[in-house]
Amino acid sequence: MKSLFIVGNWKSNKTIRETKEWVQGFMAHGSWLLTKPSTLTVVVCAPFTALSTLKQGVQDNNLPIGLGAQDLSKFDMGAYTGDINANMVKELADWVIIGHSERRTNHKESDPELAIKVTQANNAGLRVIYCVPDATTLVPRNVDIVAYEPVWAIGTGTSDTPENAQGVCAQIKQTSGVKIVIYGGSVTAGNVASFCAMQDIDGVLPGGASLNPEKFTQLLIAAQT
Ligand code: PGA
Repeated sequence: MKSLFIVGNWKSNKTIRETKEWVQGFMAHGSWLLTKPSTLTVVVCAPFTALSTLKQGVQDNNLPIGLGAQDLSKFDMGAYTGDINANMVKELADWVIIGHSERRTNHKESDPELAIKVTQANNAGLRVIYCVPDATTLVPRNVDIVAYEPVWAIGTGTSDTPENAQGVCAQIKQTSGVKIVIYGGSVTAGNVASFCAMQDIDGVLPGGASLNPEKFTQLLIAAQT
């Protein structure tokens, strides 16, 4: 069985109280992950404000969940009001999503700017999950995982087909040289297995389906079937 990466992206969701509830819910539904040897690497990318609470919950319950942020500053520490720099993120997380289409669209983040963010993440020792909408978008050097996320499939309930996603992921591997490529866009417990069965798809990046711990657990179970 191949190794799979499941990266939950909470986006701008969950207060501290809701984060604690998510951890409790995950303990109720997903604690089997603790005992069963698994080929899954599970990462949850929480908002900056929830990361500390999630980290505590993961540590207290010994959950096999990696922690990730959804963005970081292109600047070092210093006079950059509102920015969270890579070293700050590294205190709370080991992973970071860079280049999500919602940031490319809502914050006009460009490829050169995103490459700077990857360098910042690399310098801080963070592992990078780099999102691209297609196989032609530039992937900077030194990213750990590429996530293929067609914009039209994100949050719409209409995913790409596993066959098409397989083709795009294979192409991304070839052109970028990155060995781990995952798919994101309306992934659910119902369709995750068909993506993970594809030769060049090494996991998924669920957004909406990661918010409810029971649904997220169902997705983790289904991914391995
Ligand atoms: P979705 O989001 O699963 O809610 O479509 C995926 C993503 O944007 O990463």
